[in-house]
Amino acid sequence: MEKMPYQPSLDTAVLPAAIDRPEPSAPDWRRDLPALRGAMVTLREMRIADAPALFAALTTEQVSRFISPPPSSVEGFERFIAWSQRQRAAGQYVCFAVVPHGSDVAIGLYQIRSLEPAFGTSEWGFALAEEFWGSGVFMDGAKLAATFAFEVLGVRRLEARAAVRNGRGIGALRKLGAVQEGLLRRSLLRHGEWLDQSLWTLLADEWHGGRDLWIAASVVH
Ligand SMILES: CC(C)(COP(=O)(O)OP(=O)(O)OC[C@H]1O[C@@H](n2cnc3c(N)ncnc32)[C@H](O)[C@@H]1OP(=O)(O)O)[C@@H](O)C(=O)NCCC(=O)NCCS
Repeated sequence: MEKMPYQPSLDTAVLPAAIDRPEPSAPDWRRDLPALRGAMVTLREMRIADAPALFAALTTEQVSRFISPPPSSVEGFERFIAWSQRQRAAGQYVCFAVVPHGSDVAIGLYQIRSLEPAFGTSEWGFALAEEFWGSGVFMDGAKLAATFAFEVLGVRRLEARAAVRNGRGIGALRKLGAVQEGLLRRSLLRHGEWLDQSLWTLLADEWHGGRDLWIAASVVH
């Protein structure tokens, strides 16, 4: 997600943050994000304790080169995680940590942000620690996250913005079957330079990539 919805400068909450409690009739995911188990990884709610691992995984030059700047400190990640839990409870946004089987260390994330009421059109984004690139983890987690978006959140149209120079990110989107729709000229400011991005979409009625995997996968809670 190249426009990260979390803006540290606008976050005035005091840690530890009180999590907004959704009303009793709210969907389960607003109260408690389920853990989704794939072949290689589990996607689960981020925890404050994930902050050091996510800081180490996502702030390297290689990982952050084409995405909006991640928080610049462990404390910044703690604030981001607390903010994401409040946004989830408010029904605006969900963010899954990526945890390889046999470990409890978060190595990346998939985030989904509602661009209109009730997630109809949403934007997603993802990043993984570089040592997991090319390992198959991306597709495993992406199928879980996209299927959760379509089947549980009710997303109809899932958008991704990728810097045109981000060959790897675009390659990953292509593999998922995303369709390029347009060019967003000079839409991402990175290291003082305005970069062009392309818009890539998956539609609910075209999404078959994760269905088998979703049926086979267990929702852990
Ligand atoms: C985006 C990201 C999560 C994808 O994970 P990944 O493990 O690298 O993805 P994969 O290796 O499964 O898929 C990438 C594909 O792009 C291909 N690719 C790599 N470099 C490429 C390039 N310069 N041009 C075109 N395709 C390229 C790879 O060969 C691979 O395809 P293949 O499996 O058919 O060989 C990861 O690269 C990442 O965290 N990047 C930094 C964060 C980021 O840019 N996020 C925004 C993405 S829009």
